[in-house]
Amino acid sequence: MISLGIESSCDDTAVAIINDKNEILAHQIITQFDEHSKYGGVVPEIASRSHLNYVDKLIKNALIEAQITLNDIDVICAGSGPGLIGGLIVGSSIAKSIAYSLQKPFVAVNHLEAHALMPMMFNKDLKFPYMLLLVSGGHTQILKVYGVGQYKLLGTTIDDACGECFDKVAKMLGWDYMGGKEIEKSAQKGDETKYDFPRPMLHSHDLNFSFSGLKTALRTQIEKLNNIDETTKNDICASFQASIIDIINKKLTDALKMNNDVKYLVAGGGVSSNSQIRKTLENIGNKLNINVSFAPPKYCTDNGVMIAYAGLLNYQNGKTSPYTTTPKPRWNLEDL
Ligand SMILES: Nc1ncnc2c1ncn2[C@@H]1O[C@H](COP(=O)(O)OP(=O)(O)OP(=O)(O)O)[C@@H](O)[C@H]1O
Ligand SMILES: [Mg+2]
Repeated sequence: MISLGIESSCDDTAVAIINDKNEILAHQIITQFDEHSKYGGVVPEIASRSHLNYVDKLIKNALIEAQITLNDIDVICAGSGPGLIGGLIVGSSIAKSIAYSLQKPFVAVNHLEAHALMPMMFNKDLKFPYMLLLVSGGHTQILKVYGVGQYKLLGTTIDDACGECFDKVAKMLGWDYMGGKEIEKSAQKGDETKYDFPRPMLHSHDLNFSFSGLKTALRTQIEKLNNIDETTKNDICASFQASIIDIINKKLTDALKMNNDVKYLVAGGGVSSNSQIRKTLENIGNKLNINVSFAPPKYCTDNGVMIAYAGLLNYQNGKTSPYTTTPKPRWNLEDL
């Protein structure tokens, strides 16, 4: 069985073709970095026009890469929310049009479910139920995953998302937008004990997060320092990342202790590509005797494979979506 997945919820236009043996037959992706970097963030209108310009070509290239034709595809899937509505309309319209013209099934994939299921494609030993840390540009949640389409939200951010906090701090330090990766690189060379940044809600006795106070603390510290040389920058990044890691460590440990029926821990979303955060989860797993797994880093950020995979799992579970389905800018995992 072959699945085609289209992702267009933010600033990545991606198309993938996979089969039911979890083989990636094609993956084409264009990140709209040049279009948005001069504005310091994603401009929704520019993003949707760029998706429109790229998506046809990426589908054609994916078919060439996989050495198949559209007729060989069994199910056509599109990320259909949450996300920027203009981009979602582009991806889901083209997916529905192809599906309708060939009379093939269409699956409207929840973008967060795609992040949530991605580790399963690469770790055949991973089983439900598992504890999920979903850390991306727009979300920070702890969820118990009982199965495809079955999610229980245990904790969430009450303000900024973790990735958003990484991005805003990166911007304060002079990097372009989506600077999480730059912070990680810089932190590797820094001293994490140099600055004592806050750990908001560390002792809140629940599984919720807050990052806006941490972001403000960074702004205040950066404004205090006149000239930030390379060493100072590295120390700020290391100290900032240490705060984030302490918070994640505490909340996930608490979540697993409160749910001791769960024997698997996974992380998904762009921030889960961070090697120190991955190490933290592995340490939690070792302490609590829990199996920890991730997708490879390049499949943690937005990509087409996750849409093709989540769509295929839904299809195998008997779920298809009508050709009249409209994408949703907001779409919680618990509503699936
Ligand atoms: N190595 C890293 N360390 C920390 N953050 C990272 C790293 N790599 C990517 N990120 C962050 O991950 C985020 C992008 O992830 P993703 O593509 O999953 O987000 P999104 O799709 O915009 O949001 P959502 O999935 O919530 O809709 C950005 O905030 C980016 O800075
Ligand atoms: Mg995402």
